[in-house]
Amino acid sequence: MDRTILEKEGQAHVLRFWDKLNATEQAALEAQIDALDFAALARMRRLLAERGHSAAAGTEPEPAPVEILASGPERDAAKRRGEEALRAGQVAVVLVAGGQGSRLGFDGPKGAYGVGPVTGRPLFFFHARKILALSKRYDAPIPFYVMTSETNDAATRACFAENGFFGLPERDVFFFKQGMWPALDPDGRIILDAPGHIFMSPDGHGGILSALEASGATADMERRGIRSVFYFQVDNPMVAIADPTFVGLHLLRGADISIKVCAKRDPQEGLGMVVTRNGRYEMVEYTELTEEQKNRRRDDGELYFKFGSVAIHVFDFAFLRREAGVDLPLHIAHKKIASCDASGTVVKPAEPNGYKFEKFVFDVIPHAGTVVDLAFDRADEFSPVKNATGADSPATCRADLQAKWARWLAACGVEVPRAADGSPASAIEIDPATADGPEALGDYLAAHPIDPAATICI
Ligand code: UTP
Repeated sequence: MDRTILEKEGQAHVLRFWDKLNATEQAALEAQIDALDFAALARMRRLLAERGHSAAAGTEPEPAPVEILASGPERDAAKRRGEEALRAGQVAVVLVAGGQGSRLGFDGPKGAYGVGPVTGRPLFFFHARKILALSKRYDAPIPFYVMTSETNDAATRACFAENGFFGLPERDVFFFKQGMWPALDPDGRIILDAPGHIFMSPDGHGGILSALEASGATADMERRGIRSVFYFQVDNPMVAIADPTFVGLHLLRGADISIKVCAKRDPQEGLGMVVTRNGRYEMVEYTELTEEQKNRRRDDGELYFKFGSVAIHVFDFAFLRREAGVDLPLHIAHKKIASCDASGTVVKPAEPNGYKFEKFVFDVIPHAGTVVDLAFDRADEFSPVKNATGADSPATCRADLQAKWARWLAACGVEVPRAADGSPASAIEIDPATADGPEALGDYLAAHPIDPAATICI
């Protein structure tokens, strides 16, 4: 442990209770100090000092062009190209699951949360079984890279192991941990959350770029001949993983990054917007738009900033690898963080008392050559579990899943009885490995007739 660098960086207070710690606690604190990234810390302190003094926003952002890709020859060609890539084993899937899921308040990794309307199967089940279905259909391995964090890595691995990797070959599932960062108090000093412990939290989903490289995941992708990397978040069991049309369009356009976007539910929905500014693409967080921009309408009545991003991307593998070496900008958040007072007592603050820092994956967008925005129908592909109740909660997600499965059943000629509000009267659940769309469901139903009035679990 280098005490001089702590002095030099104004962080010597982390040793303030050193003499009161036992040998094990001292060793643990020393390991934490040795792992600190002082260059990143210096950037955090600079950002903190500059807060509130940032230059006024420059040029007005414009909504980026969005491709709708209705059914027709162009869509068919994109699908064919994506299928070719899947069949050649050139597509990998990465899932960012290192977040803390604090809004949901579930005790465990969010991916282990039981979302299945009939069985209570976890979010990870629905993701893994889609990959299994694709891998069987295209008769090729689809490696699955799952980003965890220090806090949920062991529980995530255990969830997969206890469930037999949801049927996926274990050799094709790769767990890797993202980095953890300390938080700072208003004076730029690292926060201790116990006398012998530095408070640490995940470094944001943007941490994936360096973590993929540091963990050997990108080297593994290279060995496997991966060209395209499909990226998604843990909270959305409706996601069309490695959707061949999306992957194919990305490849046909020679894009560095492709982004799925959907029409916002209302002007206030908290989705990022893909915009162009000064000739480059970038993502603007909804908090960065003014009320006027959020509510602005075109002549035809549609929102001017109509399409939001739900963090479903395809990356070109070489681009992703290049970006691992780039210092992404830091984002700062004012949070309540338990901390030690001068006597070493841990105090839980009632108000935000410290600053957490995160990297966001979409900050690579301005570095991309070609960017593709593809619109999708949210009723089919997006219903995240973010909050414990209300909008974007387990209840809305289960309702959206069942409404979608009821549409698939209807497409196969099976009309389920409906409640007064139009929702299916009985619970429905479909394992994506058995049927990942109406076509596969039709094949299944031809051999396995069902009673539409009963609970349906396929
Ligand atoms: P969210 O922004 O929803 O954050 O993450 P969260 O931590 O899951 O939930 P809250 O805000 O505490 O309620 C979006 C996606 O990014 C991942 C999450 O696991 C989720 O899939 N993520 C987020 C990471 O992998 N690492 C992070 O550091 C942050």
